[in-house]
Amino acid sequence: MLYLKELRWATVSELMEMHQRKIPFAGWGIKGHNRPFILHYCQFKPSMKVVEIGGAYSDLPQYIAKNFGCQVDVIDDFGVESGEASLWSRWGAREEVQKRNPDVRYIFDRVGNLHSNKIPLNYYDLIYTVSTLEHVPAHAMAKVFLHMEQMLKPDGLMVHCIDLQIPLKLHKTKTIKGLLLGTAGYYLYFWAMNHLAPASRPQLKTLIGWKQFLKKTFGSGIDVSPVRPEGALMSSLNPDIVTEPAEIVYKYYPPAEQPKLFRRNGSFILVIEKRAQASK
Ligand SMILES: C[S@@+](CC[C@H](N)C(=O)[O-])C[C@H]1O[C@@H](n2cnc3c(N)ncnc32)[C@H](O)[C@@H]1O
Repeated sequence: MLYLKELRWATVSELMEMHQRKIPFAGWGIKGHNRPFILHYCQFKPSMKVVEIGGAYSDLPQYIAKNFGCQVDVIDDFGVESGEASLWSRWGAREEVQKRNPDVRYIFDRVGNLHSNKIPLNYYDLIYTVSTLEHVPAHAMAKVFLHMEQMLKPDGLMVHCIDLQIPLKLHKTKTIKGLLLGTAGYYLYFWAMNHLAPASRPQLKTLIGWKQFLKKTFGSGIDVSPVRPEGALMSSLNPDIVTEPAEIVYKYYPPAEQPKLFRRNGSFILVIEKRAQASK
């Protein structure tokens, strides 16, 4: 049985706390929050089997393996299937990664490939992702989650940091008409999508959409009741969300170093526990 533990925005307050605690990898912006958040939130023990999905270019798995003595795997296909191989290759050659991180085992495959014979099932105590799940197309997301559930051991935990656009640019609404047609229409659209989107094409642009997606994917196999995520309007007004600075968006987001519309990107934390017994 799965239990939803957290579904909330990553906050600036938490980022500041991680800086105060001098958590390694703490920086600024989304990545500066997400990598240290894994260290901040998870309690690593030497006996644990841990996997980062989509961690091909991150130094965090090696840090965890070396400092906590866990067995750490990375599962990543280096963007081959999503067609993003050239996008990620800016971080270095695939062959170099293993050399740089000798304590990590790399599995070159894609989570969601349910026929994989390389990805172990019922095996991991902790599955985590950092800025990865937003690259999975909506229609493939259910398979990815069903696969992760199979990979996890009973009493295991999934911790995901997922980048997401903050729903509304209220600051762009300059007229009453714009407010009514643009803003209200936008919320209405998401309200309808949250409730009507089929399981095969989930609405993953809001936190509430994510909760609905989990409910539809796992049915009675997940308890989502403990968590009430912030709605789109409150998210738009919340000043405590960590956002990606405009200069990072300008420099790295495609098309890189070209003028483009700036949208506020935040990141949210999704934590799911797999409990061996139904009530605990
Ligand atoms: C933005 S990068 C991840 C960034 C990295 N975690 C970090 O901390 O910098 C996204 C990565 O996820 C991988 N990826 C996307 N979907 C995947 C899947 N279903 N299974 C395995 N890897 C996946 C891509 O190949 C890519 O390397």
